[in-house]
Amino acid sequence: MARWHLSLTIPGPEDGADAPLFQRIAWAIADEIRRGRLAPGAPLPGSRRLATELGVHRNTVIAAYAELRAEGWIEATTGSATRVAAVLAGTLPPTPQAFAPTRLGVPLEAGFDLPGPAPATSWPEPPRAQYLLAGGFPDLRQVPTQALARAWRRAITRNPAALLAYGDPRGDDRLRAALAEMLATLRGLATTADDVLVTRGSQMALDLVGRTLLSSGDAVVVEALGYQPAWAAFRAAGATLLPLPVDAAGLRVDLLPDLLARHRVRAVYVTPHHQYPTTVTLSAARRLQLLNLAATHRFAVIEDDYDHEFHYEGRPVLPLASADPHGVVVYLGTLSKVLAPGLRVGFVVAPAALLERLAELRTRVDRQGDHITERAVAELLEDGEVQRHARRMRRVYAERRDVLGEALRTHLGDAVSFELPSGGMSLWARLDDALPAEALAAEALKRGVGVYIGRRFAFDDAPLQALRLGFGGLEPAALREAARRLGESAGVVGGRRAP
Ligand SMILES: Cc1ncc(COP(=O)(O)O)c(C=O)c1O
Repeated sequence: MARWHLSLTIPGPEDGADAPLFQRIAWAIADEIRRGRLAPGAPLPGSRRLATELGVHRNTVIAAYAELRAEGWIEATTGSATRVAAVLAGTLPPTPQAFAPTRLGVPLEAGFDLPGPAPATSWPEPPRAQYLLAGGFPDLRQVPTQALARAWRRAITRNPAALLAYGDPRGDDRLRAALAEMLATLRGLATTADDVLVTRGSQMALDLVGRTLLSSGDAVVVEALGYQPAWAAFRAAGATLLPLPVDAAGLRVDLLPDLLARHRVRAVYVTPHHQYPTTVTLSAARRLQLLNLAATHRFAVIEDDYDHEFHYEGRPVLPLASADPHGVVVYLGTLSKVLAPGLRVGFVVAPAALLERLAELRTRVDRQGDHITERAVAELLEDGEVQRHARRMRRVYAERRDVLGEALRTHLGDAVSFELPSGGMSLWARLDDALPAEALAAEALKRGVGVYIGRRFAFDDAPLQALRLGFGGLEPAALREAARRLGESAGVVGGRRAP
């Protein structure tokens, strides 16, 4: 019998290993082999002897050996002696850390080359604050979760064979039909289910469209100020971004011909309904000019209509896509505002030639969306629940907008100037120069109020004397309190008493 020199260290719960004992013994032996302390072909002690040495039941060692044999670490040879497998010779480098899959952690550094430096985060998290005015988030406490849960349950129990299987990469057919119907009746888009591709939020749509439409070096015109996550998606697709300013009538389309003369522009990304972040609506004249330029120069207009439902002055303005005879508009929508961002339901409407390619790319990325959730949302659209919720929330948000506007006037006076937005869930407030935005935001955060400063939306990262204040998620009383604290912060930063 061969001499047994090894003293095994069996990892235990204190090492983060809480697997059964036989498994941990097997790991310890495999680790010895991996470290080269047990050579290929080396004999192992009999199970009885090892059990005695380790002070465990023999069956535990038998189970450990069986495990090691199944994994190919050891082999039983003639005469029933157990040996380290011979074929392992020279194939395994010793590992610097214990082999057992404990919770010792994944190495921080990759053992392989990564291309370039880590990318900057495309959308930093909002500040943690008691009163979060940052971001145009909907009020999630009011989402019809019971109806959604019932619809989800119906979807998974009634249709498991269809909805739990691989399905259409364009999305659940009932949701595509329900969205098409909504677009036709409320947004003036004469669509059918075949014109719609459901995505996981508009962010996926931006990424798919970017990667399908753009090649390295292609120029994309973007609004500046604008929506960074869209820029990140286009940049990742290799595009060069050309910023175009915005004013009180939205994107300065009048400046576009000059860019078109100097660059081969492949796409223009716009938020015409409520410009992000300034909330203004693109004027009718600029809409027409944009569509005409697109048709002439054959570029795509990527229209991001992220909060269509929430328009407070009259009816919502119809999307560019509703007046697009030339097939230049790629229309993106989302249920993130009207229902909830965590559902990750967005969609694209585009000419069939593009939609087909988007579906193909989607198949490669994700295969398909979450058809159960999609079916549940389809039911909520079919029975009017989403539309009722939207109508109710429009009144709620309109009131909150007015409350915030009034509270800002009360507590900040002429230190801020703004127009009440005609839609959306945020207010764009310009700040007096005596009130530096970053200092004000920092002071407000100390008082529990989180805001986004204008710089966050700047293309050139230049400081900007403005705040974007979201009012969707806070009740009127909380909005008043947040504005009061903001006023207090302004008093500290501006060196004067709030009005
Ligand atoms: C300009 C813009 N587009 C799209 C979205 C929605 O993104 P998603 O559908 O990925 O949640 C938002 C949400 O804040 C937005 O501001």
